[in-house]
Amino acid sequence: MAVKINNIGACVFDAYGTLFDVAAAAAQCRDALGGNADRLTAIWRTKQLEYTWLRSLMGEYVEFWKITGDGLDYAMAALDIKDAKLRKRLMDIYMRLDAYPEVKSVLKTLKKAGIKTAILSNGSPKMLAAAVKNAGIGKLLDDVISIHPLRIYKPHPRVYQLAVKELKVKAGRICFMSSNAWDAAGAANFGFRVVWVNRFGQPKELLPGKPEHEVKTLKALPPLLGL
Ligand code: LAC
Repeated sequence: MAVKINNIGACVFDAYGTLFDVAAAAAQCRDALGGNADRLTAIWRTKQLEYTWLRSLMGEYVEFWKITGDGLDYAMAALDIKDAKLRKRLMDIYMRLDAYPEVKSVLKTLKKAGIKTAILSNGSPKMLAAAVKNAGIGKLLDDVISIHPLRIYKPHPRVYQLAVKELKVKAGRICFMSSNAWDAAGAANFGFRVVWVNRFGQPKELLPGKPEHEVKTLKALPPLLGL
């Protein structure tokens, strides 16, 4: 198969929804949530992301962990769920989300080929450290980059610039993977080579910045790189 993306110095991954399964928390609490599990996941994720954008516009930064809790509180209120124990359980699971099944082997393939690997995420450093540890992928990553020092969330261009600075790889040699179409657009608009991991079968975003490739899972990444 012909190499589709060549001359890459680093592969950089979004975390939540791309490497780590954001639906796992509610799915593991199906006993308590019953038929509300999927709705809770959807409202929680939507609110979490909206709060990152709204707070960035307002210049009112708080860590992603606080935003994640606020998003959950909104989702529980929307579904009329009042259960402090369940809230704690959901947050505890979110701190240690499972990685998607293909993640480890894909990272191994990239490392074997001598490609730098990193996470670039909204996640607080503590959340990212816990998820990476839980997934057992720490040794397969050269860097875990949080937006935290910038105090602004994706898709601000300064976030993508942080990866260029930290990894010392030019934007045009960074291949960026995200399952979030808006994050893929932001990264492509910044100048990364972008693969949109459309795990959830979402329609394309009508935003500046077009991903070069759309795949269903990360399994499709190594062949695009000729590996
Ligand atoms: C992240 C969110 C956007 O990990 O998924 O940055």
